[in-house]
Amino acid sequence: MRIDILTLFPDTVSAVLHESIIGRAAKKGIVEINCVQIRDFTENRQCQVDDYPYGGGWGCVMMAQPLKSCLDHVMASAEGKKSRVIYLSPQGKTFTQETAKRLRNDYDHLVLVCGHYEGVDERFIEKCVDEELSLGDFVLTGGEIAAMAVADSVCRLVPGVLSDAECYTGESHWDGLLEYPQYTRPEEWEGMEVPEVLRNGDHAKIQRWRRKQQLLRTMNKRPDMFEKLTITDPEDRKLLEEIRKDASRPVLDQPLSCRHAMPEDLPAILSIAADARDVLKRRGIDQWQGDYPNGETFLADMQRGECYVVLHGEEIAGIFTLSTLPAPEYDDITDGKWTPDLTYCVLHRSAVSAKYRGTAVTAFLFRSIDDAARSYGVQSIRVDTHRKNKSMKRILTESGYRYHGNVLVESEPGHDPARQAFEKILKVHGV
Ligand SMILES: C[S@@+](CC[C@H](N)C(=O)[O-])C[C@H]1O[C@@H](n2cnc3c(N)ncnc32)[C@H](O)[C@@H]1O
Repeated sequence: MRIDILTLFPDTVSAVLHESIIGRAAKKGIVEINCVQIRDFTENRQCQVDDYPYGGGWGCVMMAQPLKSCLDHVMASAEGKKSRVIYLSPQGKTFTQETAKRLRNDYDHLVLVCGHYEGVDERFIEKCVDEELSLGDFVLTGGEIAAMAVADSVCRLVPGVLSDAECYTGESHWDGLLEYPQYTRPEEWEGMEVPEVLRNGDHAKIQRWRRKQQLLRTMNKRPDMFEKLTITDPEDRKLLEEIRKDASRPVLDQPLSCRHAMPEDLPAILSIAADARDVLKRRGIDQWQGDYPNGETFLADMQRGECYVVLHGEEIAGIFTLSTLPAPEYDDITDGKWTPDLTYCVLHRSAVSAKYRGTAVTAFLFRSIDDAARSYGVQSIRVDTHRKNKSMKRILTESGYRYHGNVLVESEPGHDPARQAFEKILKVHGV
């Protein structure tokens, strides 16, 4: 790609474009950028390039002759090239990434004409210019900044200028979306952490997170762009559905805390248990589908000091029971075994209210379970769940529990007693 920039300030433009990535590409001969002084092509002794406007008015207008002579000069050495003469003007079509792509694809020689003062003689535009491009709906003093923007954005699309095509195909505006947020070291800065997903090395999850962020950002920052999108990809549709669900979740603007449950909490606890029962039913899981757990179950948990509530501000958002009572049904574990010689407690009846599902309450609840277990002085936590309860199994795994085998739990008569057993070995704080 060769770009000739016709300007009254060739040194300034050249200095900028011969820096950094584009400058290195020019040095390697991947692109050629020439900044040509229009004044060198005047035919008057004063090297005058502008004159007063016919009809009167402010300022001066650039004369057609020096511009045309300058253009002829650059075109003389561009024979056989696919050339395009572009006048940078606030009256042109707005320059976009699509324009950059088109110019890169359709031409190998661009001539960028920079006006100054009040602009250029209209006859030059009519006779010599193929298209007018604007940087946006505002007026600059000269076309140089616009020409540099056009040259830079077209050149970085030329193969070899950037290390890989992905460098620009993944960027904002390539496919009508904005880019996802980017982070670099350190992992924590001013109390703000790099999102967990970017640190765990799971590339499929990272890709998915990034795509979701692209959709979300475009939706929030550039609704005008988002409106123009036609989303047909099934995975994108799923992500949009997730974004809509996320938006309907409450903002956690109050502190999260955990305390022992009290009898007056019972209505809220039963309501959360009812939410969980509904979800299990919808998922075809026959856990909690009878009278269990009921008010008596939770009151008994409270009496033993083993029932806890997680609060968002003053509102009860989650519940769990952490019991030190022996669990004889766990003794007959099959298809695996518990870690030997560890003291343990057992997690029961953990649930998050429908309103707070999918928020940070779940992670907080599981951290609170660990804290409570540590306060008991045990070394591990055991829990069972229905084999079909995929979301519980996912949360357990994400919270550090590992599958250890199968157990039969007969505490819910009339229901499938087969359960999968999980265990988490507690790390000692600070180790
Ligand atoms: C002060 S402007 C002239 C504006 C002109 N009198 C008008 O009102 O349309 C001087 C030069 O700056 C450049 N220029 C100004 N605004 C621009 C923009 N938004 N995009 C591209 N070039 C621009 C053009 O080359 C123009 O000839």
